[in-house]
Amino acid sequence: MMQIRKAKEKDLPMITEIYNEAIMTTIATFDTTPKTLDEQKTWFEDHGRKNPLLVAEMDGTVIGWGSLSKWSDRCAYTDTAEISLYIRKDYQGKGIGKRLLKRILEEGEKQGLHAVIARITEGNTISISLHEEFGFFPIGVMKEVGVKFGKRLDVLLMEKIFE
Ligand SMILES: CC(C)(COP(=O)(O)OP(=O)(O)OC[C@H]1O[C@@H](n2cnc3c(N)ncnc32)[C@H](O)[C@@H]1OP(=O)(O)O)[C@@H](O)C(=O)NCCC(=O)NCCS
Repeated sequence: MMQIRKAKEKDLPMITEIYNEAIMTTIATFDTTPKTLDEQKTWFEDHGRKNPLLVAEMDGTVIGWGSLSKWSDRCAYTDTAEISLYIRKDYQGKGIGKRLLKRILEEGEKQGLHAVIARITEGNTISISLHEEFGFFPIGVMKEVGVKFGKRLDVLLMEKIFE
């Protein structure tokens, strides 16, 4: 049985394994070197009530995670967050990303966020349509801002506003 719950510090090794796989094999993230557990601990501690971090767990294994991280440390941005969503490779395409996205948006809205921004690399059509389904709209394209695996990449910015 799959459950979605708040992430705990003890989940960090499995969260990190999922993220590091994405770093090394996909253009979904512009990180290019694997995260250490120490770095991930700092990231974990930077989340809290208003910046939820959720995991999808199946039989004791973390199979996906989602976060609404601070968009900026500048205080006027306090009601704006950036979404991240990563599902373990062998569990993708089974509806888990959709359930996790729904839950984390509900949580963010409940905690008083107003706007959520997604930065999605060009060509990630699954992620783009998933975000559209949940009310994200395009707000611009950052042209040729990244280079990964030898290719210069555009990033689509999408936003959702809680009415
Ligand atoms: C993008 C991602 C989060 C989506 O999560 P997921 O669990 O794989 O997706 P779901 O099974 O919930 O499917 C969501 C939708 O995409 C479609 N979809 C999923 N995988 C698909 C595939 N391989 N081919 C075509 N459509 C696919 C589903 O049919 C579903 O469509 P629907 O809403 O019309 O039913 C996940 O694939 C992932 O972690 N990818 C790598 C990292 C990444 O790109 N993260 C997002 C960064 S912005």
